[in-house]
Amino acid sequence: MNKASSGKRLIDALTDRPVDRPPFWFMRQAGRYLPEYRQVRAQVGDFLEMCYTPSAAAEVTLQPIRRYGMDAAILFADILLIPDALGQKLEYREGEGPVLQPIRTGEALAALKPDAIHERLAPVYETVERVAGALPEGTALIGFAGSPWTVASYMVEGHGSKEFQETRLWALRDPQGFAALIDILIETTTEYLGRQIEAGANAVQLFDSWSGVLSPDQFGRWCTDPTRAIVGRLKRRYPEIPVIGFPRGAGAKTPEYAAATGVDGVGLDTSMPPRWAASTLQASVAVQGNLDPLALVAGGRAMTDQARQILEALSLGPFIFNLGHGIVPQTPPEHVAALSELLRDWQN
Ligand code: CP3
Repeated sequence: MNKASSGKRLIDALTDRPVDRPPFWFMRQAGRYLPEYRQVRAQVGDFLEMCYTPSAAAEVTLQPIRRYGMDAAILFADILLIPDALGQKLEYREGEGPVLQPIRTGEALAALKPDAIHERLAPVYETVERVAGALPEGTALIGFAGSPWTVASYMVEGHGSKEFQETRLWALRDPQGFAALIDILIETTTEYLGRQIEAGANAVQLFDSWSGVLSPDQFGRWCTDPTRAIVGRLKRRYPEIPVIGFPRGAGAKTPEYAAATGVDGVGLDTSMPPRWAASTLQASVAVQGNLDPLALVAGGRAMTDQARQILEALSLGPFIFNLGHGIVPQTPPEHVAALSELLRDWQN
């Protein structure tokens, strides 16, 4: 017998309940492509400051929901708030992205303060409470964090990178030393997500944006295992809260990742063939994805043809429509409106 609806399409899709159409939301749906976001951002000034200002963070979380009525809002914050809360100096530079004081030794690790993170992160929990109280009934609130591997990559390199060589070399040369950093991140990420859930998040997503740089033997240890540890601890405490994992670039390793971590949903990046995902993943896990963010920039047939192909391949199984990566700043807001309309009207 079918389980009764939870009242939220996103949660139904993640918990094996029937849905009338696939739920949708878009990664980075709050951001610079929206004029009303740029306005709040200009008022507050600093990006990090905005993450820690509940009135501003709640406002920009709600902006895309007001415009487009997605089935889920995602908390406005950043995956690098954890290193910041641990005491690693962090700054976002215009045109350059995040810059951190790199951590590459045991001494630098020992200076981190895992017990003190909630003081710094308290405004984020307040943002979750405000948004949870302001959303329409049927709209889910997604909390999130970065996965240990991806957050560690920024902590070790000190900035974004294509190859993450320092991080991969540390993991290869001194796996035990590197594991100490990963363990700190498992612990703090679990606590951080737990607080978001207690403040009102209905589901959580773990962003592993850089899992694709790992070789197959390293992927298990630094991506799958830490994710499994976090999911297991959250499931013991909050069995009813679904977890979505997004191992970007995992490719053929995705089925094993999904099975071993115990996530309820798995995010697909732009490169993943939807039909392959339908036959390989959907019997055991909900899938989320995976329109090319540039198709959303292009709009028109390039966007609608690709969106329909994804829907035709995946909408019969447990599925959440999303992009294969985040919305980019040059996206025309009217293309997001057109796509949202197509998704709202979709019938299997
Ligand atoms: O999706 C959402 O709308 C929620 C908010 C959100 C942000 N970052 C806001 C943000 C989420 C879920 C993230 C996740 C995040 N942050 C990831 C994982 C997802 C991914 O994109 O792979 C990563 C790797 C980061 C780290 C980060 N934050 C980088 C590399 C940058 C700079 C790049 C850029 O786009 O400028 C950020 C800044 C950032 N995080 C912005 C936003 C809206 C832009 C800041 C601004 O307003 O200037």
